[in-house]
Formats: sequence, C-alpha cells, structure tokens
Amino acid sequence: MCGIVGYIGNKQALPILVQGLRDLEYRGYDSAGICLLHENKIERVRAVGKIDNLVGKLKDSNYPGTLGIAHTRWATHGGVTEENAHPHVAMDGKLAIVHNGIIENYRELKKKLVKKGYKFTSDTDSEVLAHLIADYYSTLPQPLPSQPSHEASAGTAREGNSSPLRGEDKGGGENTLANAVRRALSDVRGTYGLLAVHADHPDQIIAARLGSPLVVGVAEGEHYIASDVTPMLAYTKQVTFLDDGEVAEISRDNLRISNLKDELITKGTMQIDWDQAKAQKGGYEHFMLKEIMEQPTVFEDAIRGRLDMEEGTAHLGGLNISEDQLRDLKRINIISGGTAYYAGLVGKYAFERLAQVPCEVDFSSEFRYRDPIVDKKTLVYAVSQSGETADTIMAVREAKRKGAHVRGIINVVGSTIARETKAGSYIHAGLEMAVASTKAYTNMVALLLLNALQLGRLKHVNVATGKRFLESLLEIPGKMNEILKQAENIKKIAKKYAHYKNMFFLGRGVNYPVALEGSLKLKEISYIHSEGYAGGEMKHGPLALVSEDFPVVAILTRNQLFEKMKSNIMEARARGARTLIIASEDDEEAKEVADDIIFVPKTMELLEPLLNTIPLQLFAYYIAVNLGRDVDRPRNLAKSVTVE
Ligand code: M6R
Repeated sequence: MCGIVGYIGNKQALPILVQGLRDLEYRGYDSAGICLLHENKIERVRAVGKIDNLVGKLKDSNYPGTLGIAHTRWATHGGVTEENAHPHVAMDGKLAIVHNGIIENYRELKKKLVKKGYKFTSDTDSEVLAHLIADYYSTLPQPLPSQPSHEASAGTAREGNSSPLRGEDKGGGENTLANAVRRALSDVRGTYGLLAVHADHPDQIIAARLGSPLVVGVAEGEHYIASDVTPMLAYTKQVTFLDDGEVAEISRDNLRISNLKDELITKGTMQIDWDQAKAQKGGYEHFMLKEIMEQPTVFEDAIRGRLDMEEGTAHLGGLNISEDQLRDLKRINIISGGTAYYAGLVGKYAFERLAQVPCEVDFSSEFRYRDPIVDKKTLVYAVSQSGETADTIMAVREAKRKGAHVRGIINVVGSTIARETKAGSYIHAGLEMAVASTKAYTNMVALLLLNALQLGRLKHVNVATGKRFLESLLEIPGKMNEILKQAENIKKIAKKYAHYKNMFFLGRGVNYPVALEGSLKLKEISYIHSEGYAGGEMKHGPLALVSEDFPVVAILTRNQLFEKMKSNIMEARARGARTLIIASEDDEEAKEVADDIIFVPKTMELLEPLLNTIPLQLFAYYIAVNLGRDVDRPRNLAKSVTVE
C-alpha cells in the first residue's frame, strides 16, 4: 500500500529518498512523488507509474537539499493522476505533506476550507491535510524564520547526545509547525501516517501516526522516516516505531515524541536484525522465486529453539497465559486475511485434531463486524506477515475489548500487531518482498502447528505422539528441498497451462486450504481466473463449469481422503478437464487420474500443507513469468494492506 519516506540529516536527501521509494516499491503503488527543501524553498516532482518516471522528471539530480519527503501512492480516493500523487502542497507553496490512510471526514473539511478560499488541485482526501495544517499554521504566532543552518552544523551537533531520544525537549509550545499539525489532526476522522515539512522550518520534519505505520530510523546527526524499515536498513538498525496518536518532531539531532495534546512521550529505540542484503534478489530473477527457494532455511529458523524433543512438545516464549488457562480454553479463533487466512485454516485442522478445542477461522475484515462470541476462555491468534494489516489490527482490538487472550503470529518485528498483542511468536521468515506471500505462509503454518502441539500436549496428546510429530517436523526442510529441485520440471508443466483462462484448485481435508492458497497465488500474479474448492463440493454446483477449457489442479497425496479425492478428480476428468495432480512420491495409482503429475515426499497428514503448497507456488510463479507478468508487483495489489 502507499509508502512514505523522509530524510533529514547532513547527506544529500534526493538519492536517499529515491532509493527509499524503490525499497518500498514492493508494497505496491501507482504513482510517486518527492518534495525537497533547500534555502527555504520547496521543490516538488510527481509522476504517474514507476519510480523511473519520477526520476526522469527530476530536473536536477544533484539537488543539494538535505531534507525531504517522498511517497508512493496506491489510489484510494481519486484516480491515478499526477495531480493526485503526493506530496500535496498548500496554496502558499510553503507547506508539503505526504499521507497514508484515509481521511473519512474530508468532504466536510474540504467544504470549510473552500469557503475560506483554499483552492484544491486534486481529488484526494489527503490534500485537505495540507490546507488544514497551513490554515492553522497561519493563525499561530510565528517564530522567527529559521536559517538553513544544518549544512554548517554537520557532524558537530550530536556531541554529548548519543541518543536523540534523550535530546532536550525543545518542541511543544514553541513549535508552530508541530502545533499546526496537532490542531489539524484533532479535526480529522480517519487514519494517517503523515509527514509535513515547511519552507520556513528547514530543520524539521513533523510525523504523525494513527492507524498507518511509521518508523523513525535513528543515526548520528540524521533521521530516516518510512512506512517500514526497508529504506533505512542500509543506514541504521536503530529504530523507533511510532504508536497511534503520536506526533514526532524530527530534526537532525533530536527526536521529540508527544501526543496530540503535546504531552511528552518517552520511548527508546530497538535494534532491527534484518540486513540490506536480505532486501536484494540475490541472483534470482524475482523476489518471489528467491523467497520460495528460501523456505527450507527459514522453516528451520521458525522451529529453532522451540522444539522439546524430550517432552514431545513445543516451547513458545512470550505467551502471557498460564498452562491452567490454556487447559481451560473453550474455543480458539484465528483472524487473518489472504494467505495468512489460508495458513489459519491449516491451523484449524491442527488445533481441532491435536488439542481437540473448537477452532474458527475468520477473515479479519469479517470478524469484527459479526459480533463474534469470544470471552476470557477464548484464545485468538492474529496471523499476519506484515503485522500492519488494518483489518487484522481492528479485529485484534475487538477481540481484546471482548476479553479474549490474543496472540500474534507475526513476521515483522515491532509491527503494530506484534506490539498490540504483546504476546505471541515471531515466525522468523525474514524480509518478504514479493507481494505474493510464500515463505511467510510456510512459517505461519509451522508456528500454528507448534501452538497446536503445545496445547495438545497439555491436554490429550501423549509424549510418544508428540515426539513423532516433532521428528516429522525436523524432516520437513530436507523434503522441501526435494520439491524445490523439481523447479525446472514444474516450469515445463506450467508452460502447458499458461494459456488457460480458468482453473480449478481442489483439495480435501488439510489440503483444502492448500488448494485455496494455490488458487490465490495463481490469480494474484498471473491474473488467470481460478477457483479453490473442496474436492467434495464440486458436485454441488461448480462441476457445471468444468470442461476441456477449465483444467483442474488437485492435491491427491496419500492420506485418509485419498480415495474420495481420487473420485472427485475422476468426476472432473469425465467432463473433459485436463488434470495436474500433486501426488505422494512413487504413487502409481495417482498417475491414473493425471495428465501431468508432480510428486512430493510423504509426511504426516497434518504436515502435508508445508510441502504440498510449494509446487503450487512454483506453478503459479512460472505461469506468471510465462505470461510476462510483473511477478513481484502484481497490478492493483499492495504488500501490506493498511486500509480497511
Ligand atoms: O501482512 P498480512 O499477512 O496480514 O497480509 C495478508 C494478506 O494481505 C496477504 O497474505 C495477501 O493475501 C498476499 N498478497 C497473498 O499472497
């Protein structure tokens, strides 16, 4: 979704901002813009389409300013045009903002501002913020204009002040720009991640957050601000995540955080352990392929230190719930969206089978609005790669309000859901850049399985069964590698399916979510229409769609539903469907119903999704490549969906 980058320091801001925008490209966007401040003047450049279009429009690539803000826009209000791209500049040309989120009451605010004579040049909700802040700014007592003193003070100002968070509190009452931002935001209903700069304040960026993430990277004599940590990984590992309701007054040497009432908030920095190399493709054509190939390694990271082979159970730190409370649980809910939702569906099978606790899985976007029955005997798992998905954040808050125990299963360290749940596990998948989630899915499943085992061992599962489960889990990375070695073969198979306009993905039992996930992967990156279905449901309607033009991809591994699934595949073949079968290694019987076949190693039924999803990821990937799609940045989609 939209991306924000800001820089204030002693270096030339332009290359940092351009690179920052490129680092955020993976989030998805349709236009971009930059605003630089130098000698009390604001320069703005915006362009529709790729960052390269923006770079092409920059008149002076050596622009000397050391302060700037930039933005990638993913359209919500108003079409994809240059006028709608950020930054938005107030009428006097002195104040610029970039904004992520949605201003719900922008119509009424706009009306008032238009009455006062403000002229709007875009169709966006965000532009009201520029005029509203400028309007408040004009009514506040003005300080003497600051001199652009930063170049002169470079490198000296930080002596004796190694932590900018300890800087002297020179914001608040004196700070006209921050006060104008505070007042404007008090009028706003909606969500924002906001940066504001003003030509008369060349030593300052104001940042504010409500519902849209913002991180401040802290380094010697400089600060980096962004929607996530990727643009700052090359410069600093020390970051501060802004929380909802916080306003940051950011200068080169000082970071002052307060709330909308200007009450000072003291918070420290945290260390991020991802490095910049992880944000590179490492020789692969696409991030998606790199991330698919990383699965054996990151899976090991997910389970490392969490298996108790002696007791046949899992140790998961940071849970904030006693063993007695766990034993006493009456219900489990899993809330998530997209791929994380399908991982959650796998979790349901595991919780019900191992722990025998009823488990419901909801799209986060639905959970909050259906008045869910959750209470203090309910454990809610919020599953999210980014930890910033707005739907899931809202669902977490609803579950907490109702008194449930809430745990996060999250990838991004320090993200909003991780912080708001305060309990749970990181999945340790590392930085996932491709919009299509792959390795995060595998590790979410891994963590849900470990949670289910832990609960199972507290209830019905005996130590021997627990041990067998863990032994099988330890074999998974090797088995994943066996599948990944078949990439060239899967590529050849994918070529045969790339021309189809429709496809079915079928599975049963624990492989039903695998079918759903396979279908999602295909549609999101290849734009081929596909439907994921439970094999047994086909005869209740969808079978009417099947023909020789509507192939079926089916998971037919050796488990308790093998025979039933095989019949469902035969029903489709009898209607002319071409079939691609995912089967257990050396399964001759599976060949009988296959036009094409991919073999996967055998494992315990509950662990099958960890393996069976991988050929479907590769299948979708190679089809998308074959069709010349923008695999890592599919159209209309964003990596992290920060609006509801
Ligand atoms: O960051 P999250 O895991 O909360 O994101 C949820 C979905 O937006 C995400 O899984 C999406 O469906 C992916 N594009 C799927 O590949």
